[in-house]
Amino acid sequence: MSTKTDKNRVVIFDTTLRDGEQSPGASMNLEEKVRIATVLEEMGVDVIEAGFPIASEGDFEAVRAIAGKIKESTICGLARATSQDIDRAAEALKPAARKRIHTFIATSPLHMEHKLKMGPNSVLEAVHDSVTRARGYTDDVEWSAEDATRSETDFLCRCVEIAINAGATTINIPDTVGYALPEEFGALIALLRNKVPNIDKAVISVHCHNDLGLGVANSLSAVRNGARQVECTVNGLGERAGNAAMEELVMAMRTRNDLMPYHTGIKTELITRASHLVSTVTGFVVQPNKAIVGANAFAHESGIHQDGMLKHAGTYEIMSPESIGLTESKIVLGKHSGRHAFTTKVKEMGLDLDDEAIEDVFRRFKDLADKKKEVFEEDLVALIDDRIVRGSDRIKFVSLQVVCGSKGPQKADLELKVDGETITTSAQGDGPVDATFAAIRNLFPHEATLQLYQVHAVTKGTDAQAEVTVRLEEKGRTVNGQGADVDTMVASARAYVNALNKLIVKRGKSAPAALSA
Ligand code: KIV
Ligand code: ZN
Repeated sequence: MSTKTDKNRVVIFDTTLRDGEQSPGASMNLEEKVRIATVLEEMGVDVIEAGFPIASEGDFEAVRAIAGKIKESTICGLARATSQDIDRAAEALKPAARKRIHTFIATSPLHMEHKLKMGPNSVLEAVHDSVTRARGYTDDVEWSAEDATRSETDFLCRCVEIAINAGATTINIPDTVGYALPEEFGALIALLRNKVPNIDKAVISVHCHNDLGLGVANSLSAVRNGARQVECTVNGLGERAGNAAMEELVMAMRTRNDLMPYHTGIKTELITRASHLVSTVTGFVVQPNKAIVGANAFAHESGIHQDGMLKHAGTYEIMSPESIGLTESKIVLGKHSGRHAFTTKVKEMGLDLDDEAIEDVFRRFKDLADKKKEVFEEDLVALIDDRIVRGSDRIKFVSLQVVCGSKGPQKADLELKVDGETITTSAQGDGPVDATFAAIRNLFPHEATLQLYQVHAVTKGTDAQAEVTVRLEEKGRTVNGQGADVDTMVASARAYVNALNKLIVKRGKSAPAALSA
């Protein structure tokens, strides 16, 4: 049933690639954004906010690439209330099968006076002009009242009415600073529905930040009061404390359908996959006790709970792990599996790779199967994610030999290929990681500083692959590199080299200018 005729259908608007990427350190490159958008489309996300095209060349290119690739979800680009922003968004969205321009302006006295330095009448005029301009490019226009929850309600109602008259089809009410409380926010949505005369001509959307930890509660309260689009991000990524988490919103509506008879188009079985991908790409680890996707969300430690679970899963589980795509680790392939079995398995897992990538991942799978007794689905996903983030790297990892232990000194012998030429070095350091990174600096001198070094095990057991994230910063540019291997030092070297490659690409592009909204 279409979202327009089904009154209980809630539109899922994912802004992981826009508001999510605005988290300090969570930058993603074009390939990574396309990969995430592909998974979001597969999940059934209705609208993907792919970026803020005027913000940087990189954002523009990412929105354009996603618009060219994704066919089912609507692709959205953000724009302030200026003609330059709107024209740039429209240009980036040109290849999209379904496109939306999302334009916004602040409506609270605080923002209007101190940030915009505009009076209320100028803001009303800007609302009309920006929506009218956006409608010149597409019939699907979303208008947002930034800082809506600290705006005067009469003024907010006038803005909304003008936006709808100018052609906005979705009206978004953001709790920009995560200030609202659930009842209060629900009442604001009810008030808009009662007071704005043309409100039935638009879908009401909400966009809740999590500064008080209430992003999801506020969004659900809004839905119960008539909002039919929720803006959210995977893992709750986003500015400051983040945005409402998609997985929490979707699973709350599904699990408490008795009190919230709403539904979304999300294939919840893909939640775990999306969560893992976003966490790997951004280097933002999911806290173990995070609702739905935390490693402990379905773990039962205490004796009483385990006993109850053995008798009936419903005793301590309100949703099944399978419903979010969490299955027992499955052994997928062994060291004797051939290319055909491997390719079939990759396809079965819903992962699409071109021939060159299959060749590369197959080679690494064979290496892994030699070292590790059992190769699990998670191992394959890690190898594939590793390949995706590696793209067309200028610097390639070849080999690493590390001497470590309590007798010191720790030493790393490293071989890299830079622009096709093999180079080697030896370096000492305070520990094996320091020695490895020093060796990389010997072979490829640079000034970037290490902001984050993080290791996590892909599966259980001492022979598990390590997945390493390295964050580097150079002159305001931040990049995250990833690497996976059964040897933690090799994974670390791969992650560092991956980050350097991304930095090289970023150096070629100007650093994004700070935007004043
Ligand atoms: O938080 C906010 O107000 C936003 C708007 C641009 C929708 O992100
Ligand atoms: Zn936001």
